[in-house]
Amino acid sequence: CNIVVLISGSGSNLQAIIDDLAEHPTAKIRAVISNSADAYGLVRAQQAGIAQHVLNHKEFADRLAFDSALIEVIDQYQPDLVVLAGFMRILTPEFTRHYAQRLLNIHPSLLPKHKGLETHQRAIAAGDTEHGCSVHFVTEELDGGPVVIQASLAISADDNAEQLAQKVHALEHQVYPLAVRWFAEGRLQLHQHKAMLDGQLL
Ligand code: GRF
Repeated sequence: CNIVVLISGSGSNLQAIIDDLAEHPTAKIRAVISNSADAYGLVRAQQAGIAQHVLNHKEFADRLAFDSALIEVIDQYQPDLVVLAGFMRILTPEFTRHYAQRLLNIHPSLLPKHKGLETHQRAIAAGDTEHGCSVHFVTEELDGGPVVIQASLAISADDNAEQLAQKVHALEHQVYPLAVRWFAEGRLQLHQHKAMLDGQLL
């Protein structure tokens, strides 16, 4: 199973997936692509001997031009799965359709709550008692695709957004590698807008 990972920042989720695949070689990350040249995730890719590409979205006329250039780079690697790991770009419907059924994302909230940005402070502000992260198939709807796996924690009264973000990050590093591995093993699929694991609806 060929995987391409898209990042924008530190790439701690990328690292978690690299480490997990080292233990369970059911898939291979063929390339890491970042829209930012100074994403630390590129260093992680280099250290893991994985090809890196930088595609700076500011160098493209519009979202469509960027996404089609991105598709061109990605498809060189013939991916069975494209993993968004902290990729901070909103993707066009053309892109999500091109990778339909084989595009995963991780979002730092218990979807469908808190789609979009600043999820940790929003969970605190909303007085939520629990919070967490969700791995989901990516569809045209932002942060709206079928959820594959979630991990949750109790928000404690003295948690601030930064502390909560760190706790959620730790959960992300547990569940994302698992979801990627399920897909690589052919156990996880998106079937008629429903996520299925071993043939069971999730
Ligand atoms: C994570 O919080 C993830 O939920 C969100 O962006 C962040 C990525 O962090 N999509 P990293 O670059 O994987 O460390």
